[in-house]
Amino acid sequence: MLLTFLASKVSICTSFATMASKTMRAVWYDSYGGGAAGLKHVEVPIPSPKKGKILLKVEAAALNPIDWKIQKGISRPFWPPKFPFIPVTDVAGEVVEVGPGANRFKPGDKVVSMVSYMKGGGLAEYAVAGEALTVTRPPEVSPAEGAGLPFAALAALQALKITGINFDGTSKSSNVLITAASGGVGHYAVQLAKLANSHVTATCGARNVELVKSLGADEVLDYKTPEGASLKSPSGKKYDSVVHCTIGISWSIFEPNLNAKAKVVEITPTSWTIIRSALRKLTFPKKQFLTMFVSPKKEDMEFLVELVKEGKLKTLVDSKHPFSKAEEAWAKLMDGHATGKVIIEM
Ligand SMILES: NC(=O)c1ccc[n+]([C@@H]2O[C@H](COP(=O)([O-])OP(=O)(O)OC[C@H]3O[C@@H](n4cnc5c(N)ncnc54)[C@H](OP(=O)(O)O)[C@@H]3O)[C@@H](O)[C@H]2O)c1
Repeated sequence: MLLTFLASKVSICTSFATMASKTMRAVWYDSYGGGAAGLKHVEVPIPSPKKGKILLKVEAAALNPIDWKIQKGISRPFWPPKFPFIPVTDVAGEVVEVGPGANRFKPGDKVVSMVSYMKGGGLAEYAVAGEALTVTRPPEVSPAEGAGLPFAALAALQALKITGINFDGTSKSSNVLITAASGGVGHYAVQLAKLANSHVTATCGARNVELVKSLGADEVLDYKTPEGASLKSPSGKKYDSVVHCTIGISWSIFEPNLNAKAKVVEITPTSWTIIRSALRKLTFPKKQFLTMFVSPKKEDMEFLVELVKEGKLKTLVDSKHPFSKAEEAWAKLMDGHATGKVIIEM
């Protein structure tokens, strides 16, 4: 009894001290490269929300490959705009303060946010997010499930939409191929394509075949077998849409497996794939090769959170890591073999 009382007093004092000192724990890097070893645990001032922004107490953050690619220097010198940089965009948390003009949320609200990917800031105890890219998180959606959604599930949803699949119940059944279906984006893409009445063929490694089937895939190919490498559907179906979540597959592999007006969406755009896509467009081909980058939209985020709430979409969690071991999560994602989302819990 006495111990419980003392523990609660210590907890209150700790929380008071943290807020009063106005600092927080964060993880940043201060130069390009270095991978997980380049991450540093630091104590920095708690940011304050400016106009239209809100301050969140972060409960969970999800990593995306773009996080380590930016650290590696994929978009240097523009991104990150300056060092040191606190990475990560995808968070779930509780609103603790609202900035001037922000009126959609109040302290205590549970939310999912995509924080500015130019400014970063998600890998910290507190993060500033724009109201425009913040949505309510209902109690049915855990912090980890919510944090997993923004970048990865938006990519899956928007890639499917680009190919002409819609989610208003009017989509005709189409044949969809999803590569790397066990990954952060792919596992959402499989479930979303099924919700849109598609026949799904998926690729993944042998260890995840049953798992990907359990997400709804009708046919699954092990990408390390000759059949998997050929992308040929076991039932002989040709694809109308491809959500291509891995790299290194040439057009000559896709082409024989496509229906006449198929669209292949490459979600890992590189200079080469962007040029390839532009060159193909010049000849007005019926089979299209498109590249895309997520366009963050509140309406799409709300749609995804609602699907999770209703139990129609799930976030497959590869692993959860405590904030104190954020570098382990970083290394796990960089390894390229995550099954679902890598989550850091505060
Ligand atoms: N355009 C955008 O806006 C956008 C948004 C989000 C992500 N992305 C990009 O999309 C890509 C995928 O992201 P992610 O988060 O899904 O990555 P991820 O979670 O790191 O993907 C890992 C998964 O991919 C599987 N995999 C690897 N190579 C494969 C292959 N050749 N065939 C089939 N499966 C393979 C792995 O399976 P094994 O372990 O069995 O090898 C693993 O389960 C990344 O390049 C990312 O940068 C783009």
